[in-house]
Order: sequence, then C-alpha cells, then structure tokens
Amino acid sequence: MTALSELYQEIERCQQCEIAKYRNRVVPGEGAEDADIMFIGEAPGWHEDQQGRPFVGPAGKFLDELLASIGLNRQQVYIANVIKCRPQGNRDPLPSEIQNCRQWLTRQIEIICPKMIVTLGRFSMAMYFPGKSISKIHGTAQKRDNVIYYAMYHPAAALHQGSLRQAIEADMLKIPSLLAEAGSVTEAKQDPEQLSMF
Ligand code: URA
Repeated sequence: MTALSELYQEIERCQQCEIAKYRNRVVPGEGAEDADIMFIGEAPGWHEDQQGRPFVGPAGKFLDELLASIGLNRQQVYIANVIKCRPQGNRDPLPSEIQNCRQWLTRQIEIICPKMIVTLGRFSMAMYFPGKSISKIHGTAQKRDNVIYYAMYHPAAALHQGSLRQAIEADMLKIPSLLAEAGSVTEAKQDPEQLSMF
C-alpha cells in the first residue's frame, strides 16, 4: 500500500467536522505520488461528492483543458482541495473546517514533495499568501524553502465570469517556464516580501 493510499484511509475515517455526516464520499485528492506540481482547490462540489474525486464537474473539465494547454494531464500532477468534504449547499468552507482539514493537506504535501504548489482560488491562496488579494497576485510566484508557490484564480471563476478566462489561461501557460527557471532563481530567505516574484 502506498503512503497516499494509507493516508486516504485515514481521511475516510475522519469525522472531525459536522459536514462529515452529510458527505457521500470523502474527496482526498488524486494524482501522481511523485508529482512536480500540486494544485489546491477549495472544496468538493456535488459531482466530486458523488464520485470521491476532485475537480470532476464543470470546473474540473476546464482544469483538464488548462492542463492540456501545457501538455499535462491529471495523472501527471496532483490535485487536492483545502477541505475534503463537501460543504452543504456549496457554501464557503468554515475557518474551523479549514483548520481541521489542514493536517491532511500538510501530510499530502509531505508525501508528494511537489516542486510547485498552485493555489486555485482564494481559500488555498489565503493559506500560502495570507493577506493578499487574488486580483493582485494571480499569475505571480514566490519561492520559499525550495517550493514555488503560484496563485491562480479558481477555474470556476471563469465559468461565472467569462472575462477571467483569458487571465486563467495565460496564468496556466506560465507554469512550465516557472518550473524550468526555478532551479536558477535565488531565494531571499531573510525577507519574505522580497522572495523572488517571477
Ligand atoms: N471546486 C473545487 O475547489 N474543488 C473541486 O474539487 C471541485 C470544484
């Protein structure tokens, strides 16, 4: 059994939040255990709750297209969410749910050791770029402790607000060169505000 499948079994037993009672399926995440890139969305929606897989509804279809635009498919990356159970009525995750679930995301990151973490939407952005606004920092990256953190709009945003589609597509296209450049960029560990934004 792989480290990830053992972790999935633990996540499936989790009952820490009220929403665990209402879920059909836990949605831990999926993809390659040795993925270079990890995408982190918000929370499972109706489709994901039915299938136990992340990003399988309309936003997921767009994410698949975005991945294809850089020559990748979902088996080559890792896709997770900030929280692993669907909030009823697709409401925003509660701070307590984000906090309870954070242990699982941390363990996923420890197992996968991605070179790049791409936040999709404001909830995962808030974890790695606290206090920032997505409209200002989307398409920008910071390198910390040898991991590139990169903020993007949530793919669902393009479905609700067509004007964001181009921005999301353009941000996705920057990923391959960011990864390629990563090795040669110097980290400014002393001053987090000065970390390489590239
Ligand atoms: N939106 C998310 O943030 N995650 C999913 O898995 C599906 C839709």
